[in-house]
Order: sequence, then structure tokens, then C-alpha cells
Amino acid sequence: RKTALNAADIRAMKGQTPIVSLTAYTTPMARLMDGHCDFVLVGDSVGMVLHGLPSTLGVTMDMMVMHGAAVARGLSHAMMVIDMPFGSYEESPAQAFRNAARLMAETGAAAVKLEGGVEMAETIRVLVKRGIPVMAHIGLTPQSINTLGGYRVQGRDEAAKPLIADARAVADAGAFAVVLEKVPATLADQVTEIVDIPTIGIGASVGCDGQVLVVDDMLGFFTAFKPKFVKRYADLGTQAEAAIAEYATEVRARRFPEPEHTFADQAPAKKT
Ligand code: KIV
Ligand code: NA
Repeated sequence: RKTALNAADIRAMKGQTPIVSLTAYTTPMARLMDGHCDFVLVGDSVGMVLHGLPSTLGVTMDMMVMHGAAVARGLSHAMMVIDMPFGSYEESPAQAFRNAARLMAETGAAAVKLEGGVEMAETIRVLVKRGIPVMAHIGLTPQSINTLGGYRVQGRDEAAKPLIADARAVADAGAFAVVLEKVPATLADQVTEIVDIPTIGIGASVGCDGQVLVVDDMLGFFTAFKPKFVKRYADLGTQAEAAIAEYATEVRARRFPEPEHTFADQAPAKKT
């Protein structure tokens, strides 16, 4: 699969032009955003958004491979980045390389994303040195929900310094970009100034080098809850349910199908 944009292109956009990104999990959604996004993220948010899981912890390598391969079929312009799921990279750099290589080989992704700062720097270094571009993800890292104790804002007050240290560590280790999730806007601006790689904000700051949102959130498809940082650009969930309700009403009233949706005994005469 050939994509127009790669990790070096994204890296080079810092200071030039804002980087646009959304998540995708399926081919049709990837097709819709391919011409509008610089990179598309096959996020492990797929577990919550499409599979009804309570968190991202239950997402498996097989799920990521299947959704990644589907997204790849819908992209020709945007770069594809894929999340490493919980448990697939934390054990050792060797485990991380094995699973990152599988994700790239079996999906066509051009880079992987993993959660963690200082503690994942060595792993990032090993992957990058061996040919795997890495996007880091710091601040609120949903795979650590059980140790973080909730989806709270990260990096406030005395937690600002460690967050800056995380950003520095992943940049030094060779990450080509870093996602900042749910951190104070002024801290996100500070990190954006400090590191020489693009910062991709989600619940961060308009001053970040780029932005990412979960596509089902911004389209109004995922309505179980709405984080403050989500802007709903459409209300497709409501529209979809209205359409389903109308269909149900028409079937029960025998108003659907109509003649135009059914077939006659005889094939219609060919037009001359
Ligand atoms: O899984 C995901 O969708 C993500 C983005 C929110 C950054 O990691
Ligand atoms: Na994720």
C-alpha cells in the first residue's frame, strides 16, 4: 500500500501547518477522511467505540490487525498510525518490536503509537532504531486507567514537571510525534515549545501542532458519554436512530417495501 504521507512528512509539519487527524476503524470511514486528514489513527478506542468494552484494556492484537487492515483499504493519501494494545509492548523492547512489526506487516500501517513517557523511552528507542516510527502518547493514558484511578486531567500543579520530562524523554528517544491527552492548555503550549517534534492534542490546546479526535465522538455516533474535549460536529447517532425507527414503523404498517423495491414476474422490456 502506498501512502502519500509518512512519519518524516508529519514531523516536518511542525511550525509549518496544523496537523489534522481522526481515528478510524473501518474502510468506509477511512475513505471519508482520507482526503482531509494528514494521518489517520487506528486507535484502541475501537474497543469502547465499536465493541462495547468498558475500557481499552480488553483490546487484542487480533482486533487491531483486523481493524487496521480494514482502514488501510480506505486510505491512499493520509498516513496510517496504529495503536499498540494494552499488554503488547510493556513487557520488554523485544516484545514491543515483535508486536509492532506484526501490526505493520499485517495492516500496512506506517507507524505505531504506544502509551507512556520516561518509562517507555528505551522501548521507543529500540523500535525507531529498527525501522518502526513511533508516535508517543502521554498525559491521560487510558490503558493505565487502573493505576491513574480515573480519567482526570493530567499534569496539573506538581504533576507538570513529570509530564514535561515525559515529553522530553519520548522526543529524545526518537518518537516522530507525541499525543498530549487531557492536560492543561498552558502546559500543552509549553511542551509544544520545548520539544522539536509535533504535539498532537486531544483535550490539550489549540496551540498544539495538531489535533486528533475519536471520529465516532465528533460525529455523534458514540453517545455513552461525552468528554469535555469532544466537539460534536454532527449528530449522526440521533439521525440514525430516527431512520431505524421510521423503517420499523413502515414495516409494521406494511408501507415498506414499495413497488419500486420489489420485482415483477417478467423482466421489464428493454428500452430501445
Ligand atoms: O485510541 C485512541 O482513539 C487514541 C486517541 C484518542 C489519541 O489513542
Ligand atoms: Na489509544
